[in-house]
Amino acid sequence: MKAITKHTYGGPEVLRLEEVEKPSSKEGHLLVQVKANSANPADWHILRGEPFFARFTFGLFKPKNKVLGAAFSGIVKEVAEHVTKFKIGDKVFGHMLQGGAFAEFICAPENFCGHMPIGSTFEEMACTPMAGLTALQALTTHGKLQEGESVLINGSSGGVGHFAVQIAKAYGAQVTAVCSSRNIDFVKSLGADAAIAYDQDDIHQHDKKYDLVLDTSGNLNFADFKRLGERGILVGFTTMGHMMSVLFKKGFGKFPLHQFTVEANTEDLNTLANLIKEGKVKPYIEKTYPSSKIPEAIEYIESMRTRGKVCMTWEP
Ligand SMILES: NC(=O)c1ccc[n+]([C@@H]2O[C@H](COP(=O)([O-])OP(=O)(O)OC[C@H]3O[C@@H](n4cnc5c(N)ncnc54)[C@H](OP(=O)(O)O)[C@@H]3O)[C@@H](O)[C@H]2O)c1
Repeated sequence: MKAITKHTYGGPEVLRLEEVEKPSSKEGHLLVQVKANSANPADWHILRGEPFFARFTFGLFKPKNKVLGAAFSGIVKEVAEHVTKFKIGDKVFGHMLQGGAFAEFICAPENFCGHMPIGSTFEEMACTPMAGLTALQALTTHGKLQEGESVLINGSSGGVGHFAVQIAKAYGAQVTAVCSSRNIDFVKSLGADAAIAYDQDDIHQHDKKYDLVLDTSGNLNFADFKRLGERGILVGFTTMGHMMSVLFKKGFGKFPLHQFTVEANTEDLNTLANLIKEGKVKPYIEKTYPSSKIPEAIEYIESMRTRGKVCMTWEP
């Protein structure tokens, strides 16, 4: 089968479209024919081996997993022993942080997969796993968002942010979205009640208070979280120094600030599928590339200025 591979750490130029061995299904796993992928910042962090501590997980001197990619959608071709929720022919979407998704086939644990809702496309559902799961878990699992609460979403027009705006509205919150001025109309079209352009109003001086502050951009400092929110969720990453500073200050304070790593599970994927089926959430796709151009897609998202998501498709 064809796959997008990496044999060394580096930028998109080290990626190759190569023939590799097709994975075989194993206990509790599904063999999925991949129809589409989406690009996520985790892909280029893992590709570059940055920040350095990530190499303790993904390979110290060279990548452990040769096939890049986390988010996928496709069709189940084989189900192994002890799979209970899926059958051959099901359309599924899922998330494999350890990689392997930018390929014609992937062998994924069933608990990392969910059923695609009727009426959705492979492109939409490939865009949903990592960004949608992160937004959902940030707001509900960690943010404990309640109906009627106010939430400030910093970095509201990108992959995670544009899901977060729609999910927060679906859960009955009042949403204030922070983005660049070129995306103000976009975030309002997603349902944001108010929007702040960070290139016109300095968010570090903004003094309104919200029940929850969700930072997908990763540029708020600890004082911002305390001034702006009753509680905070840190999702995004700018530099190690900035993140260490925020987490160090959190360690000495009482402000409820949480930082987490997204987890794939069928329950949350099904929650996202239901929100999409009910029309409460719609993934926005800014660009679609063929699978042979995945290196270009990764290069594009490295600027961290994506509107919604970037998708890649595997032709028959
Ligand atoms: N903790 C986890 O498990 C987890 C999971 C997924 C992602 N993440 C992290 O979350 C972050 C966001 O991911 P993503 O997929 O949403 O990335 P993305 O699609 O590239 O979106 C980034 C967004 O940041 C906005 N932005 C850029 N500069 C900004 C600023 N100064 N203030 C406010 N917003 C700004 C951009 O909007 P404009 O173009 O309007 O500026 C862009 O839409 C990344 O750092 C990623 O690594 C963490």
